[in-house]
Amino acid sequence: MEYVTLNNGLKMPKLGFGVWLVPDDEAETAVKNAIEVGYRSIDTAMVYKNEEGVGRAIAASGVPREELFITTKLWNSDQGYDETLQAFDASLERLGLDYVDLYLIHWPMPKENTYVETYKALEKLYHDGKVKAIGVCNFHIEHLQRLLDECKVIPVLNQVECHPYLQQTELKAFCKEHGIYVEAWSPLMNGKDVLNDEVIKEIAEAHGKTAAQVILRWHLQYDNIVIPKSVTPSRIEENFNVFDFQLSDVDMKKIEGLNRNHRNGPDPAEFNNK
Ligand SMILES: NC(=O)c1ccc[n+]([C@@H]2O[C@H](COP(=O)([O-])OP(=O)(O)OC[C@H]3O[C@@H](n4cnc5c(N)ncnc54)[C@H](OP(=O)(O)O)[C@@H]3O)[C@@H](O)[C@H]2O)c1
Repeated sequence: MEYVTLNNGLKMPKLGFGVWLVPDDEAETAVKNAIEVGYRSIDTAMVYKNEEGVGRAIAASGVPREELFITTKLWNSDQGYDETLQAFDASLERLGLDYVDLYLIHWPMPKENTYVETYKALEKLYHDGKVKAIGVCNFHIEHLQRLLDECKVIPVLNQVECHPYLQQTELKAFCKEHGIYVEAWSPLMNGKDVLNDEVIKEIAEAHGKTAAQVILRWHLQYDNIVIPKSVTPSRIEENFNVFDFQLSDVDMKKIEGLNRNHRNGPDPAEFNNK
């Protein structure tokens, strides 16, 4: 496993396990499986409705709590200072934990204009020691800039859609300048087109690896934190086996050439669903 050191000194596994769209009972099995394979970072959210299943898997794993890195997220309907504090406590209870490692705002919802006060509640949770780090998801540069201007704690990371067809070059440069990591959601484009890309398949064949492994390796070498999801035991293992090979500069250049700024998910500037 490779680790990154976040801007507040906290260490985080560079490869984690996502559980979006995994029902609560299946999440328990999948997370147990992932922890057995070696994953130590789990990415859930209130809106995934599987924090309880994730919590049961953590409790059953036998792995010391301090060796695990647990992320959950504040849903859009809970934005606001007091609402955030309450929603956090409810997440913690569902997870069965007494702290989480990372708490994230799920979407900026710019139309509502509540993400700054919401972030201030995250700062309180951080200062109270209930979370080890705070950050955001789906923030464009202008949203990050407002936090930098109006808040005190710099987010440790920004979790955004990122894969070879959406490389987020400009956002990554801004984040790097401010010590904010980029964490890639849908790193495999949610299992869609990029897994069948001819360039990726060619590189995979040359390394004796799968397309998914090449894409995850690309993320790691592109300095993304990455959280692939799978409920399939063989894929959970496949996605973890990405530390025993290296993409060359030529491979990296070829994948860089695949960028087409193509979003599979919604544009955060317009996403205001609650
Ligand atoms: N912050 C946000 O707004 C946000 C949004 C979306 C996602 N996320 C987080 O990011 C995580 C990952 O994103 P994601 O779930 O959208 O997509 P993803 O990890 O890019 O892809 C998951 C899909 O790819 C399939 N898959 C996984 N490994 C594979 C492999 N080795 N070969 C072929 N297919 C494979 C999975 O199928 P099976 O499961 O059937 O194996 C699933 O359908 C989420 O689970 C969630 O934790 C965050």
